Amino acid sequence: MKIIHFDEIDSTNAYVSREIASLENFAIVEADYQTAGKGREDRTWISPKKECLMFSIVIKDKEIIKNYNSLSMMMANEVRKALVKLGLKDNEVKIKWPNDVYVNDKKICGILLQGKYPEYLVVGIGININQMEFKGEYRTSPTSIAREFNKLIDFEASKKVFYEQLLNTLNNFSVSLESLISDVREYNYLLNKDTKYGKVVGIADDYSLVVSDNGKQINISTGEIDLN
Ligand code: BTN
Repeated sequence: MKIIHFDEIDSTNAYVSREIASLENFAIVEADYQTAGKGREDRTWISPKKECLMFSIVIKDKEIIKNYNSLSMMMANEVRKALVKLGLKDNEVKIKWPNDVYVNDKKICGILLQGKYPEYLVVGIGININQMEFKGEYRTSPTSIAREFNKLIDFEASKKVFYEQLLNTLNNFSVSLESLISDVREYNYLLNKDTKYGKVVGIADDYSLVVSDNGKQINISTGEIDLN
């Protein structure tokens, strides 16, 4: 496993984009602290040192790049599985379409997929590990592993569980793809919830979200939506 560590950096995603020429496929760039962490839709991602696991995975594999529409959901699903391995309850950890992980209605992980098609992708992942409290304003209320267990956990040991889970999956991408659709349907946080587009009734084979608006079904693709 190739890991590049920074005590402090602007953003691990930004670093990957700058240094892409010298980075190998599946390298992980991690940072204890980000001064300009990025979230989706131009939001910021801030965390005190070593409370949130923040890293980016470099993707240069052509097969994966071609299937980029399923990648962030696959990563969310693998983060979900790792959280269950770490002791969270299987029926309480859900995938919030398209790429967040929720525990009991609270966000525990966010994923930001960036890149330059068809050259490379960067999967930026933030997983809340040891925050006991969250300062500041949040659009959706957050939680962390420590909050769920009501005690701090071993940051390094949990990091290993996440990295192994994710890299194992990326190394077996086509096999992982086979079970992805049934998992995202089974652990669909939004199922039966009302959104501004209508009530969520499922996820289609192309991973678009299916909503019902006055009896009419609409498919919504990743990227074209803000559900909160
Ligand atoms: C979101 O929920 O809006 C996505 C958050 C993604 C945050 C991670 S932390 C590591 C990587 N570097 C960044 O600047 N952002 C991602």
